Amino acid sequence: MPESIAITGAAGFIGSHLVDYFLAQGRMVTGLDNFSRGTRSNLASALQNSRFRLLEVDLADPLAPAACDLDGVAELWHLAANSDIPAGTADAAIDRKDTFLTTCHTLELVKRFGIKRLCFASTSAVYGDLPQTLDEDSGPLWPISNYGAMKLASEGAISAAVESAGFQALIFRFPNVVGGRATHGILYDLIGRIVIGQKARGGIADLEVLGDGSQRKPYLHVSDLLAAMLHISAHASGPRNCYLIGPQDDGITVREIVAAILAECAPGLPARYTGGARGWVGDVPRFQYSVAKLAALGWTASMSSSQAIERAVREVYAELKQPCS
Ligand SMILES: NC(=O)c1ccc[n+]([C@@H]2O[C@H](COP(=O)([O-])OP(=O)(O)OC[C@H]3O[C@@H](n4cnc5c(N)ncnc54)[C@H](O)[C@@H]3O)[C@@H](O)[C@H]2O)c1
Repeated sequence: MPESIAITGAAGFIGSHLVDYFLAQGRMVTGLDNFSRGTRSNLASALQNSRFRLLEVDLADPLAPAACDLDGVAELWHLAANSDIPAGTADAAIDRKDTFLTTCHTLELVKRFGIKRLCFASTSAVYGDLPQTLDEDSGPLWPISNYGAMKLASEGAISAAVESAGFQALIFRFPNVVGGRATHGILYDLIGRIVIGQKARGGIADLEVLGDGSQRKPYLHVSDLLAAMLHISAHASGPRNCYLIGPQDDGITVREIVAAILAECAPGLPARYTGGARGWVGDVPRFQYSVAKLAALGWTASMSSSQAIERAVREVYAELKQPCS
């Protein structure tokens, strides 16, 4: 009988794709989510599958570990977190609770049920605003958002727990991830505004874009992210290991992303940039990943940042255009 998997943040953008992947592999999957950002529609297919079990739980609640039964789970993928970085900057309690406490309580579950492996969704935000090309050993690690700070604190808590509980921890530092089922992010926000205007029939006069458009970051399609994580989990060794996951290019600018959105969704609509190098407080306007460690393990992305954006624009637009059910 294949070993059972648990996924926190299962109803979210990336978590729901992981749920579907493992179900397609014939695995038993337990999804944990409080639906603060995730949606039942992301789990529409999983909820029809008898091998899927949903635990609706707030993992920031200190009572959560006692309330969850993960007996028989061999591997836990921890993706639950706050994904709204500006909200976490405005109110530090949001990331303390949804990004850090969820990790602490997930670790209690790992210990209580003797889970053998924890896979953790970390982020480029742990680096703060470092000028150099980032690799797994870059530093100092001085995050500039509460989100990045609580992800870094989570990495530390996971490392310490490995020592006391003896499981394997794989830490994946994602770049920006795009694709269908997005619950947030630049494509979701900008295409969402265009679609709301189109549904109201009047349209919008212009598309407001935060910053001056020169921000440049790497983007990965969610299908490539899953392929990379699964490759790492099959091949990485050691009690704790960390990988940067990204495309093999130096990213794409916000202006290029806006051009791709307008070409697909609203040809002729003007873009209006609010100005300034950063989109918001806590935004890291440019970063670049070295993915040499991942390449040495035998994996490279199938899509460039531009190709990932082009595909994701079509996917997100098609989803958001659907009439609300
Ligand atoms: N999408 C990206 O570009 C990106 C980049 C870097 C890192 N990450 C990380 O990847 C993971 C998944 O991101 P995503 O884009 O799918 O975000 P998402 O917001 O779509 O998914 C996160 C899920 O966690 C759930 N959640 C939040 N707080 C919870 C709580 N207290 N208890 C239970 N569930 C809770 C939400 O309801 C949501 O379904 C997150 O940890 C995120 O920080 C994402």
